[in-house]
Amino acid sequence: REKVTIQTLQVLRSRKEPITMLTAYDYPTALACSSNPAIDITLVGDSLAQVCLGLKSTTQLTLDQMIHHATAVARGTTHPLLIADMPFGSYHASVEQAINNAVRMVREAQVEAIKLEGGEEIVELVRRLTSLGIPVMAHIGLLPQRHVASSGYKVQGRSLDAAKAMMRTAKLLEQAGAFSMVVEAVPKELGQFITDNLSIPTIGIGAGPSTSGQVLVWDDAMGTWNGHKAKFVRRFANMQAIRDEGVQNYAQSVKDGSFPDPQRESYTIDKTEWTRFL
Ligand code: KIV
Ligand code: NA
Repeated sequence: REKVTIQTLQVLRSRKEPITMLTAYDYPTALACSSNPAIDITLVGDSLAQVCLGLKSTTQLTLDQMIHHATAVARGTTHPLLIADMPFGSYHASVEQAINNAVRMVREAQVEAIKLEGGEEIVELVRRLTSLGIPVMAHIGLLPQRHVASSGYKVQGRSLDAAKAMMRTAKLLEQAGAFSMVVEAVPKELGQFITDNLSIPTIGIGAGPSTSGQVLVWDDAMGTWNGHKAKFVRRFANMQAIRDEGVQNYAQSVKDGSFPDPQRESYTIDKTEWTRFL
C-alpha cells in the first residue's frame, strides 16, 4: 500500500471509511501494524509506560525513553502514518522547549507527526508546531497524563456543560491547525457530535462508533496481558494464552530432554578428522 498521508486520512473521513489506528512500541509490533494494508496509522502511545516498561503511569515516561522506542517503531513502519505521543513534561514548560523536543521526535525518532494531550492551554503550541511543519494530532476527553488531577481515569463530557466545553476545545484545536484528534472515553453521542462538528478526522477510543476512526492499545487489543480491561476494550486475540503455551512447551521439552533433538536440532562433527581425536 502507498504511504498514508494526512490527505489520505481526509479522504477516508469524507468517504466515511473508518480509519484504523493501533499502537506499537517496538520493531516487531511496528512490523505487525505494517503487515496489514488496512491499518492506517501506527501510534507510539505513551501507554508505552505501562504496557511495555511496567511503569505505574504515563507521567513516569521520559522523552529519551519515548525516542528510544519510537526509533525502533520507525524502523519497522512502512505504509502507516507514524505518530508518537509527546511524553508528560516534554511540552509543558514553554513553547520553545516543546518545539525543541518535538524536533527531536521528528529528527531522531523519525515520527511523522506528534500527539499532544490538552485543551486551550496547548492551542498556541499547536499553532506554532503546525506553522513549522510539524503536524499535530490533538487528544481530548480523558487525558491519562492528568489522571491525578482528574482523580482517576473517568469518562469525560457526561454533563451538557462539560460536553459543550469539550466541543469548544475541539474547535479551538482544529482552528490552531491540528490535523486530527483523538477523543478518549466520552459518551458515544458526544463522540458523534464532535465528529460532526469538525472538519478533521476524529479517532475515538471509548468514544462510540461514530468517530472517523478507532484506536486501541496493542496489548488490550491483542490480549498480551490480563490487566484491567476498560469497557471500551475488545480483545481481538489472546496472545497471552498462545505465549504461555509456548513457554510451557519449551520448558517441558528441555526438562524432559526431548529438546534439542540430536539429529534435527544439533550439529555434527566432521567424522574423518575427529576419529583420531575422540
Ligand atoms: O498512549 C496511547 O496509547 C494513546 C492512545 C490509546 C490514544 O494515547
Ligand atoms: Na497516550
